[in-house]
Amino acid sequence: MKLLPLLIVLSSAAVQAQTDLTNCSSPQWSYDEFSEKLKISDECMEVLAAQWTENQNADVFSNLNRLADVLKKNQKAVCKDATPKECPTPAVQSKGGLVCVSTSGKRFCKPMCNEGYDFGFLRISRLFETCSDATNYSWTTQLVGGNKLAICNKSSIRVAGASSTYFPANQDCWTTKSNSTLEQEIINAFENELSAKNVNGPYTHRCLMCG
Ligand SMILES: *[C@@H]1O[C@H](CO)[C@@H](O)[C@H](O)[C@H]1NC(C)=O
Ligand SMILES: *[C@@H]1O[C@H](CO)[C@@H](O)[C@H](O)[C@H]1NC(C)=O
Ligand SMILES: *[C@@H]1O[C@H](CO)[C@@H](O)[C@H](O)[C@H]1NC(C)=O
Ligand SMILES: *[C@@H]1O[C@H](CO)[C@@H](O)[C@H](O)[C@H]1NC(C)=O
Repeated sequence: MKLLPLLIVLSSAAVQAQTDLTNCSSPQWSYDEFSEKLKISDECMEVLAAQWTENQNADVFSNLNRLADVLKKNQKAVCKDATPKECPTPAVQSKGGLVCVSTSGKRFCKPMCNEGYDFGFLRISRLFETCSDATNYSWTTQLVGGNKLAICNKSSIRVAGASSTYFPANQDCWTTKSNSTLEQEIINAFENELSAKNVNGPYTHRCLMCG
């Protein structure tokens, strides 16, 4: 008998938590306001972190991590409607990214690693992976099973891949993707490499996904 009021309180709390989006579109959460705050310099953040308690540091850290996960999950939407539709969206390796384009009923993705990382498998003569009816709509990959196309391991040397498969120093995948000019350069470079291999355009569903 006492359980019912408790359940009502719990479920209305759950509903409230779900619909608490009233302030989401207010100016304080506009892109400009939000990104401006996050552009705080390392030096300034160090000063603040030294002033905050360990608990406060942990509080901010856990919230940033939570939000990073949301953003990571969200970016998959960009490439998810790519053709051919039968091809699964490939999994992006962490510490790098995938540049992908479609042409003539085929999907092509070039794995790339960030500065300080190298491919777990030798792929110097293997620029990209592909998915089409010719592969039964599954991804070619050196890895066993699943949709993971490559692995980027911590490494001070870059020997396993072609030079164009590494992001430049100080410009990892996310930094590249944060600037549409840099993002387009990376995608254009891949298209040039494809057409040099007689895989010609027009290219559609062009995108860069970061891990
Ligand atoms: C919305 O913002 C106002 C003003 O900042 C605040 O008082 C209110 O509690 C917020 N509402 C929610 C549901 O977060
Ligand atoms: C790269 O990382 C994978 C997965 O963590 C691991 O299995 C593999 O041994 C690593 N390869 C090298 C060369 O370090
Ligand atoms: C695709 O599937 C067919 C029928 O199951 C099979 O004969 C063929 O070898 C497969 N092709 C590839 C590239 O796996
Ligand atoms: C994007 O990158 C280009 C080339 O490095 C640079 O000139 C431009 O200022 C950057 N744009 C933004 C908004 O950071």
